[in-house]
Amino acid sequence: MIQLKTPQDIEGIRRSGRLLARLFEEVGPQIAAGMSTYDVDRLCDDFIRRHHAVASCKGYMGYPSATCISVNDVVIHGIPNRHIVLSDGDIVSVDITLDLDGYVSDSTHTYEIGKVSPELHQLNEVTEKCLYLGIEAASKPHARIQDIGAAVSSYARRFGYGVVRDYCGHGVGFSIHEEPNVPNYVSLSSPNPRIREGMVLAIEPMINMGTYRIKTDPDGWGVRTQDGKPACHWEHTIAITDKGLEIMTVL
Ligand code: MF3
Ligand code: CO
Ligand code: CO
Repeated sequence: MIQLKTPQDIEGIRRSGRLLARLFEEVGPQIAAGMSTYDVDRLCDDFIRRHHAVASCKGYMGYPSATCISVNDVVIHGIPNRHIVLSDGDIVSVDITLDLDGYVSDSTHTYEIGKVSPELHQLNEVTEKCLYLGIEAASKPHARIQDIGAAVSSYARRFGYGVVRDYCGHGVGFSIHEEPNVPNYVSLSSPNPRIREGMVLAIEPMINMGTYRIKTDPDGWGVRTQDGKPACHWEHTIAITDKGLEIMTVL
């Protein structure tokens, strides 16, 4: 069941989303070569605690950390680790689900460490553009959920990139993962509801430089590309209000 949100709910999710945007604004510029993914997680978790919010991921289905920090060929769900140290030329995605006063927002930014190769920079730019194209598709009159994946996948494939199929965006707002499922490709077997007022969605393209195929790490969480090529991830929480689509996780 899709849980539609009232204007008051959306105001709560907006406050949550703005706080998450402030976190990225504060922490993003501090992420640098020589830091471990654990150090990045500490910066994020400190911010969340200072603002009396909760990192929803921690404890979700047994997930051990406040954030997911995924480097290079790790697509999503990288567990922060003091032995994984960022170096020049890496890309790192920081994925955070934040709960403020019971309202949940979800957002991911991918950062380039030092100078990355032109190929990697393109992957990052194209993935972020995929996110905005997905959001734009969702904002059109009479749009349906699968219009998002159609927009994301058609743009990504122009560059020969793989579009991850095994993980999707989702409804959000009262908890981390709600209905509907929001695939980044056109899925004939997946429901295709009309996008309407009161829906709150996490749109999150996961785009691989090579194959779309992924494998799970022995820790049961980290999701990696099968071919070892890099992957990228961007995410925003959006809401459909009486005035139209609004991005919740920006300032
Ligand atoms: N933030 C993730 C998402 O975008 C959810 C991570 S759940 C965790 O859907 F348990 F892996 F942290
Ligand atoms: Co997320
Ligand atoms: Co999400």
